[in-house]
Amino acid sequence: MWYFCSPEIVFGEGSLDELDELRGRRALIVTDDTLVQLGLVDRVKAHLDKAGIESHVFDAVEPDPSVQTVRKGVEVAQDVAPDWIVGLGGGSPMDAAKAIWVLYERPDLHPAEINPFVHLNLRQKARLITIPTTSGTGAEVTWGIVLTDTEEQRKMGLGNRENIADIAIVDPVMAAGMPPQLTADTGLDALTHAVEGYTCTWHTDVTDGVCVGAARLVFQYLPRAVADGSDMSARERMHNGATCAGLGFGNAMASMAHAMGHVLGATFHVPHGRAVSIFLPYTIEFAAREAPGRFADLAGLLVGFQAEGEKAARALAERIRALCREIGNPTSVAEVDVAREAYEAQLDKMVDDAFNDTQIITAARSPSYDELRQLFLYAYEGRVVDF
Ligand SMILES: NC(=O)c1ccc[n+]([C@@H]2O[C@H](COP(=O)([O-])OP(=O)(O)OC[C@H]3O[C@@H](n4cnc5c(N)ncnc54)[C@H](O)[C@@H]3O)[C@@H](O)[C@H]2O)c1
Ligand SMILES: [Zn+2]
Repeated sequence: MWYFCSPEIVFGEGSLDELDELRGRRALIVTDDTLVQLGLVDRVKAHLDKAGIESHVFDAVEPDPSVQTVRKGVEVAQDVAPDWIVGLGGGSPMDAAKAIWVLYERPDLHPAEINPFVHLNLRQKARLITIPTTSGTGAEVTWGIVLTDTEEQRKMGLGNRENIADIAIVDPVMAAGMPPQLTADTGLDALTHAVEGYTCTWHTDVTDGVCVGAARLVFQYLPRAVADGSDMSARERMHNGATCAGLGFGNAMASMAHAMGHVLGATFHVPHGRAVSIFLPYTIEFAAREAPGRFADLAGLLVGFQAEGEKAARALAERIRALCREIGNPTSVAEVDVAREAYEAQLDKMVDDAFNDTQIITAARSPSYDELRQLFLYAYEGRVVDF
């Protein structure tokens, strides 16, 4: 038995107007200070004003939000007593908003208790709206929450189907001001979601279509959105693509590139999308020898590559590297300024943490400890995987 969960999704240019019709008394906007400075928070407030909803702002969310930040946000929520929580931003503010909402409703819980196996009984005090300002994570439509444990330098995968947003407002205008590097990093996150959602062992008939559609959109429109941020048609298609990829992997799973990317991000502060997309081709090549089927299918659908098994899967990996190069992104860890000595010093912990990441269990080919270690090293050096 499987589920497909989604908020009501309002999308396309002008969809922020949906807020004008909202009913409620008080909203807490969870966001970051950059988005305040860029005027995006004011835009949302103006719409809430029209709806007669008083708004308060918690803007202390950092990239890769920590449990401590979430706790501060919960205190603000207890003071403000909102009936709407608005997660406005990239994945970081949207994930923080989900966690703040859950703990505002359920102050008896520890963050680590937000897992798929408990009954949370949410929506007694508030409901959740998500408004993405990056075209990448899909966190607007997923129930997953990624928080960072700063003491142990590791990412924690949390979430429960109940904490999915009620409404996701996917308005490309909110992402139109992203600089090229952020556009590239977050767009590659969406591609990684689409590819891993399609190829992981938890994929289903219901998620396959949105994953393929999302991957096509990224291949076609990401280079345009990076080259010319004012190309609103490319912006809109990327914003939709990221949401579709979120629906796909959020109702299936991500996989090894996410397990490895989470570890790199938590250890060396590499932005999420850049980290996971570096590892994606290596994990595809690793799967190619023993479990190429789904990757070969995808190569046929996306790249028109009709060869058999391993060869087609490897062509897909190369096509992804070519896209990364085309938009100026790295294809190896060495290129992101992580010193080799520091990387090797952390290698054993990184392998352990990757094995503890929930995303690794859906890998098409399960790695042994030594194989995962080798993969981290090959990805550092940019070597094509041959084992
Ligand atoms: N819950 C999920 O399903 C899910 C999926 C993937 C990733 N994540 C998590 O999401 C986080 C990454 O999110 P992200 O990649 O969207 O980045 P982010 O939210 O961390 O933001 C990165 C930077 O971009 C800035 N920014 C955001 N929108 C902007 C805009 N329109 N213009 C200019 N600057 C803007 C932010 O202020 C911030 O400084 C990570 O913590 C990752 O683990 C969650
Ligand atoms: Zn991701």
